Amino acid sequence: MLAHDVLVIGGGGAGLRAAIAAAEESDRLSIAVLSKVYPMRSHTVSAEGGTAAVMRENDHLDFHAKDTIFGGDFLSDQDAVEAFVEEAPAEVIQLEHWGCPWSRDPDGRVSVRPFGGMTVNRTLYAADKTGFHMLHALFQTSLKYERIVRHDEWFATSLLVEDGKVCGVVALNLHDGQVCPIAAKAVIICTGGGGRIFPFTTNAAIKTGDGMALAYRAGVALKDMEFVQYHPTGLPGTGILITEASRSEGGHLKNKDGYRYLQDYGLGPPTDEPVHRKMELGPRDILSRCHIQEYQKGRTFEGPYGHYVHLDLRHLGEKVIDKQLPFVRELARNYVGIDPVSEPIPVRPVVHYMMGGISTDIHGRTSLGGLYAAGEVACVSVNGANRLGSNSLTELLVFGARAGRAAARYALERPVFPSNPLAKIASDERRRLDQRFLRAAGRERIADIREEMQKAMENGVGIYRERATMEETCKTLRGLCERFAHIGLADRDAVFNTELIAALELDCMLDVAEAVAHSALAREESRGAHTRTDFPKRDDVRFLQHSLATHTPEGPRITYAPVTITRWPPEERKY
Ligand code: FUM
Repeated sequence: MLAHDVLVIGGGGAGLRAAIAAAEESDRLSIAVLSKVYPMRSHTVSAEGGTAAVMRENDHLDFHAKDTIFGGDFLSDQDAVEAFVEEAPAEVIQLEHWGCPWSRDPDGRVSVRPFGGMTVNRTLYAADKTGFHMLHALFQTSLKYERIVRHDEWFATSLLVEDGKVCGVVALNLHDGQVCPIAAKAVIICTGGGGRIFPFTTNAAIKTGDGMALAYRAGVALKDMEFVQYHPTGLPGTGILITEASRSEGGHLKNKDGYRYLQDYGLGPPTDEPVHRKMELGPRDILSRCHIQEYQKGRTFEGPYGHYVHLDLRHLGEKVIDKQLPFVRELARNYVGIDPVSEPIPVRPVVHYMMGGISTDIHGRTSLGGLYAAGEVACVSVNGANRLGSNSLTELLVFGARAGRAAARYALERPVFPSNPLAKIASDERRRLDQRFLRAAGRERIADIREEMQKAMENGVGIYRERATMEETCKTLRGLCERFAHIGLADRDAVFNTELIAALELDCMLDVAEAVAHSALAREESRGAHTRTDFPKRDDVRFLQHSLATHTPEGPRITYAPVTITRWPPEERKY
């Protein structure tokens, strides 16, 4: 039977950083990274714009903390933010020592670019392929530790819990369809977010909320799930990200009249230079709302994939575009047939990031003994109600490392593996998968349920929200959960059964979608990315609180927990 001291689920940035941190904590530990895709195919690889850290003399840890807290509309836990900004610089330097080629200024210092909602240039980058280079550096570093082994292309179907502590997972090996128990003294979930519950998203097809659902079903609360970030510049149709870096390099957002409309929303005046927190460098929640208002005024373009505006980079010139934004040029050419050197790029808001996730403390610990989480799957909470661009890559480094260290220490103190008859548990899980999916004769189709779920999410819990449509979405989701029980698969084979994986993913997405919709319905205020037309104001008296969604057979139960305020008392968030 497979057994490891520390088992990391997810091979992206947070997972690899956690595994390395655990390996560095002790050479006595056996560590495994289990991932449903080969690690270099994890979604971190597609991160573009950069990673934030205080690197310059005109910057200060307190500025980074204040920008993050302000951007998050005061829902961030400030102790977490303080740890985050403090440990960020060492993490990015460490990453360079591991091989990450940060772009540099002519004087040799790492370059820093402005990013939305930040008051100082503090976003390090590697052109516009930052995630690709970061993931490479982490992956190649992980390879040097023999004590880190990998289970690539395995899907964790459930957590093993004994006496209130996690003691491993049951996982499906995609290569041969075997369902195996894997014992572990500590488990770290780093599986990323679940943007795929929405129809238009920058998220890769693999981002289906699997880790959130694993923890949720094991009784761990999902925190602040109502806060879903729309990125203002995705490509219509595919949802592919056109990085915020294109605006930090000086790109303009224009409506169908060629007008830089953001000046009409308190973000002006327009200038030729990017200005911190103004115009195109306003925070994402505000820019996404401005887009919708432009649409309502009839000032957006209409295309086969709905309304869009233009991102105009032409004035930057070919040289700047090729040096700083080569990937943007490649994506625009390949996916919309447009060369940004000579034509504006069509863009629209698309779901990009979930601020909420598995509720953890600042060491990545959850309420279940031995279970940790880090990265987008977790809610520490640094990002509060709205994450600032370039804080998420930093978050996966800082809190991936923290979770790895904490899990390693926990495992070192926990001498024995579980006493449960693991083989029996695995055969029960095999039977469950057989009965529920492989041998089930149901007539419901995965694609139908998935599409209806995505539509319901966009209708009810998109950029603007109100009670009636959210209630409708909650009702639709419940109905879809019931229909999911009657699913039928065409592929019953054991080997690389991607239809079975799609069914398991949809099961997870339905749980995550319900947690989002119910948390949103319960929060009767507007804060950050959660904008209610029926409750347009922030309400600190009732809702300066984290929401916690707990799994019940009838759907999520929503309760609240206090926000940690250290040095930045809530104030009005104005730009
Ligand atoms: O636009 C971007 O490059 C996205 C960055 C982020 O979400 O942190």
